[in-house]
Amino acid sequence: MAPGGQCTPRPRPAAEAIQGWGLSRRRGAEAAPPAPQPDRPADLDGRTVIRSDDEGQALSEAEAASVGKRLGERLLSLGAREILERILAEHAGMEGPLLPILHAVQDAVGHISAAHVARIAKALNLSRAEVHGVVSFYHYFRQHEPGRHVVHVCRAEACQAMRGEQTELHARRELGVDYGGTSADGLFTLEAAYCLGNCAAAPTVMIDEKLYGRVTPERLAAILAEWRNR
Ligand code: FES
Repeated sequence: MAPGGQCTPRPRPAAEAIQGWGLSRRRGAEAAPPAPQPDRPADLDGRTVIRSDDEGQALSEAEAASVGKRLGERLLSLGAREILERILAEHAGMEGPLLPILHAVQDAVGHISAAHVARIAKALNLSRAEVHGVVSFYHYFRQHEPGRHVVHVCRAEACQAMRGEQTELHARRELGVDYGGTSADGLFTLEAAYCLGNCAAAPTVMIDEKLYGRVTPERLAAILAEWRNR
């Protein structure tokens, strides 16, 4: 999928369907269906929050709240779950699979969430901190879902030499965000690039996968208007 690709929202599944996503608190343990609880509170979706651990023992309110929070995170990322499992299967047995997996996940769903990090860490027998450290080290990896389109503005030397700073400034002002941010209307995420391979026609901007050369502030305004109307 393109850098600005979207994961298609899917209907939230029934509570039974998400139990297999791993409510286990023990590394490597199978997730067991929770024992029926008569006093299950409703979560935001009107469904029930599981209030027992893997062994059917009652959780404290704090633990239940934590489970509910994690459950919500998983619900949010559930649309990408099948894709993630397929990616993990495709990279099984590969040497040094972490970066290829992270690239594949971002290409497929547009970002790498905390839920992705947890599942990848488990699959590779790494800690979440180790996987998160790699995700946060590389600016390329997004930790939040991007806007509908991703605007890359080149900040490398050739573009800077051709007044690329003016283009950058205009992009930040018009979208109302700094690098890494998404415009209030959710249409554009602004990201920096360091050479888009179009130095001869600097300054360069790329929106999703479409490259634009000799992008003055005025031209960028026209390009963004065109993308808004798509
Ligand atoms: S420096 Fe901007 S495209 Fe190469």
